Amino acid sequence: MVTVETIRRALLSWYDAHARNLPWRVGPAAHAAGVRGDPYRVWLSEVMLQQTTVPHATPYFLKFTARWPTIGDLAAAPDAEVMAAWAGLGYYARARNLLACARAVAADHGGVFPDTEAGLRSLPGLGPYTAAAVGAIAFDRPTNVVDGNVERVVSRLFAVETPLPAAKPELKRLAGELVRDARPGDWAQALMDLGATVCRPKAPLCERCPLTAHCAAFAAGAPETYPRKTAKAVRPHRHGVAYILTRGDEIALVRRPPDGLLGGMLALPTSDWRSEAWTPDEALAAAPSDADWRHVGEVEHGFTHFTLTLQLLRAEGDGREVIWSRRRDLDGLPSVFLKAARAGLANLL
Ligand code: ADE
Repeated sequence: MVTVETIRRALLSWYDAHARNLPWRVGPAAHAAGVRGDPYRVWLSEVMLQQTTVPHATPYFLKFTARWPTIGDLAAAPDAEVMAAWAGLGYYARARNLLACARAVAADHGGVFPDTEAGLRSLPGLGPYTAAAVGAIAFDRPTNVVDGNVERVVSRLFAVETPLPAAKPELKRLAGELVRDARPGDWAQALMDLGATVCRPKAPLCERCPLTAHCAAFAAGAPETYPRKTAKAVRPHRHGVAYILTRGDEIALVRRPPDGLLGGMLALPTSDWRSEAWTPDEALAAAPSDADWRHVGEVEHGFTHFTLTLQLLRAEGDGREVIWSRRRDLDGLPSVFLKAARAGLANLL
């Protein structure tokens, strides 16, 4: 009979030897010696890592913490600067939630994060995953931290046959049965590291895994087929037109409305995004100003829930209600618009 304790000992020993060295992390040796992480850095990293991988998030984390070293600094930052620094991470609602949370901690908690899962959960924009992760990693609370990595590890360990997303409650329950009062932050991070580096989605490295002896999916011979998934819905495709209006060295940008996709972000002016392609006449009729618009290409972009083709129209001229920006200052644009601006400008250079 394999006990929870055997599994825990095997994974925590593996973590002691193989923990990734990450800029927001207090490694297992330092943690054992009494060093505690900065809750601000733990929280910031967890918000960033919810939507992307460690290699993609790391430069953003370093940029944010260099520019805003404390929660008070971030809370005092202008919205537009934080949104621009977030550009490229995606899911811009998260950046707005990040600011709302920073400001609440600064204004209502004296700049100090609450140190319990429930206290963290009461902050605006801080969801159940983040509360569990920060509670465990920053405050050693025995929370149940379940992200996609943990779901994959647990689904394999117990060969869970229920497909995702229906399996989520079952996976959460099984993950919770492995949590103990001892080393909760190390435990959460050990599961994450195992999922990211060994129990990988497509090609798990079972020969390096400390849990193979206990892994039901490994025993059954096809660990990579877990977690089971219901057939994916096909992502719909949409079409839009992006307008690249230049005035000498400047390019016209707009700020998108606060709610909805890419809400509050700087953007190129665009038409609506719809399922039918835009005819050249329709594209001209939707343009932000009268000008000599020329078709200069198109770009494709994948969002989580749909894919997009943007036709690119370019003109030199003047525009009303636009934000004129230097062409070389486009770094604050979301990836889709950066891609469109680069392609549209390059074509005429
Ligand atoms: N993914 C999400 N949170 C993480 C963390 N704290 N360490 C490593 N990978 C993670």
